[in-house]
Amino acid sequence: MALCPKSVLITGANRGIGLEFVKQFLKLDVPPKFIFACCRQPDSAEDLKSIASGSSVVHIVKLDVQDQSTIDTAKTYVESKLEGQGLNLLINNAAVLHLKGFYDVTKQEMMDHFETNAVGPLIVSQTFISLLKQAAGVNPTAPMSCSRAAIINMSTGVASISENSSGGIYPYRASKAALNMLTSNMAIDLKGDGILVTAVHPGWVKTNMGGPNALIDTETSLKGIMSVFAKLQGEEGTGKFYHGVKGELIGW
Ligand SMILES: NC(=O)c1ccc[n+]([C@@H]2O[C@H](COP(=O)([O-])OP(=O)(O)OC[C@H]3O[C@@H](n4cnc5c(N)ncnc54)[C@H](OP(=O)(O)O)[C@@H]3O)[C@@H](O)[C@H]2O)c1
Repeated sequence: MALCPKSVLITGANRGIGLEFVKQFLKLDVPPKFIFACCRQPDSAEDLKSIASGSSVVHIVKLDVQDQSTIDTAKTYVESKLEGQGLNLLINNAAVLHLKGFYDVTKQEMMDHFETNAVGPLIVSQTFISLLKQAAGVNPTAPMSCSRAAIINMSTGVASISENSSGGIYPYRASKAALNMLTSNMAIDLKGDGILVTAVHPGWVKTNMGGPNALIDTETSLKGIMSVFAKLQGEEGTGKFYHGVKGELIGW
């Protein structure tokens, strides 16, 4: 199946994997009509601004996943643009990572990670759900897919409990494991509405978060992820935890 959502919203789109999502969606055979590239500080999002200046598709939208008022304002803006067609694809990409272990992590760091990496994606999904339902209703008999109506949560291999063999990275691992549970739960709760919900690990990618020693660049990661998105279909595609580059399932 071709990947052809008419509208996509990406959080944390000003750099790293989020920015590469914007570039790769623009390169699709049938690009979306709307790409809502969300970031905390649009004024200083220079890379995004240069892409948006030559495109009628890319809309830069202020959205801080820790700040409900910015999420609400973003939703109002997105809804005004979509003209009743709804939002096809929401990508919860924004996240933070501090490399803290058992002895040095603080309560505040744990709370901050949970707020950004797990609670944020839940609240963003909750706020935009009416638009996702609207999109699902446009093609009521189509199978669930990223082209019809879907929430993708950007997770990480180190959130896997079954594959954890090295310990450490407490706040990031725990908050992303919580995100995985939210993914599984939302997949169950939103199936009846025709909305697919799946978690995707992008590989170890050269970004601020992944660092310079990472294995792949953002383009390589995104090419894999986009082909996984294209394959996610119906009941088989929802409630899963995928390695976006290998295209294989990861154990929870
Ligand atoms: N890179 C890897 O190797 C790797 C591996 C596994 C999983 N992942 C996952 O892939 C996703 C993207 O990672 P990345 O490598 O591109 O990370 P990155 O380069 O550090 O970028 C993180 C993005 O999240 C945004 N962000 C942070 N807190 C935010 C908030 N409260 N509200 C809105 N945006 C916020 C940042 O915005 P600011 O510029 O404003 O800070 C930035 O745009 C994350 O979910 C990450 O966990 C990455």
